[in-house]
Amino acid sequence: MRNKVSKAIFPVAGMGTRFLPATKAVPKEIMTLVDRPLVQYAIDEAREAGIKEFIFVTARGKNALEDYFDNAPELETKLRKDGKTELLETLKSTNMESGAIAYIRQHKAMGLGHAVWCARRLVGNEPFAVMLPDDVIAGDRSCLAQMVEAYEESGGSMVATMEVSPEQTKSYGVLDIDESDPTGDDRLMRAKGMVEKPNPGEAPSNLAVIGRYILTPNVMQNLNKIGRGAGNEIQLTDAIAAEIGQDRPVYGYKFDGKRYDCGSKAGYLEATVAFALANPELGDGFRDYLRQVVAND
Ligand code: UTP
Repeated sequence: MRNKVSKAIFPVAGMGTRFLPATKAVPKEIMTLVDRPLVQYAIDEAREAGIKEFIFVTARGKNALEDYFDNAPELETKLRKDGKTELLETLKSTNMESGAIAYIRQHKAMGLGHAVWCARRLVGNEPFAVMLPDDVIAGDRSCLAQMVEAYEESGGSMVATMEVSPEQTKSYGVLDIDESDPTGDDRLMRAKGMVEKPNPGEAPSNLAVIGRYILTPNVMQNLNKIGRGAGNEIQLTDAIAAEIGQDRPVYGYKFDGKRYDCGSKAGYLEATVAFALANPELGDGFRDYLRQVVAND
């Protein structure tokens, strides 16, 4: 019987330089889409996938994240007194059971791989998920839940993947798919390699790795061994690629859903528009407003 995936690491220790000056004072993960911070979307997705333990790898200046998941007794008392039960209900999704959430400091931003490695003692000897909250995935079903279900069948390590245009491969880790080893599931593909940020002519496929992973404890051991890679950072991609070198299965999972790169300004704006249009209270009015803006442009 395979171990259940019950722990997720949220590496949020990056500096968010693409959103300066805002990120000088506000962690990127606290920026909102309509009314909820990016991190709340990730937590909801994780909960739907059955995650019970939430491990945040944070850094200096990220205290707002810890406050966000804390109880807010004065606010709750006021809302209760004013009979604002709907808002009270909304607040509930931000409360965490004591002991279910942990914060670890990454003392120096040495890369995503290093951030994940910082959580090694909390993960122990179990498979775990890694979620990057700045990748927001909209869809009928939680992307991580889809991956957990596929993982229960396949085992190994798994990365979420999506097709990108040839010009975009240089911004992602890209999968090299082993066509000779079909999995019998159209969404699941065995990888025989991974290349970090290849140029268009050199990419082995158009399948980019995005910010959802299910990893085995062995990946932590690889992170122990590998040195700095691209950008002089310790790369998670390199530690996963080492799995393939050790003849351990690594899969790409083509999830069902639409991913927004909220770590970039353009992606964040696209997500804001999409989530506003999908919002039952705002959608119709906002659609009319956008039509007017475009007509007058
Ligand atoms: P990014 O590459 O988006 O970097 O990191 P960033 O610092 O967040 O943003 P920019 O590029 O400066 O604008 C991808 C993910 O890895 C985490 C980030 O917090 C983000 O969730 N990360 C990155 C760390 O936790 N530690 C690091 O040392 C680097």
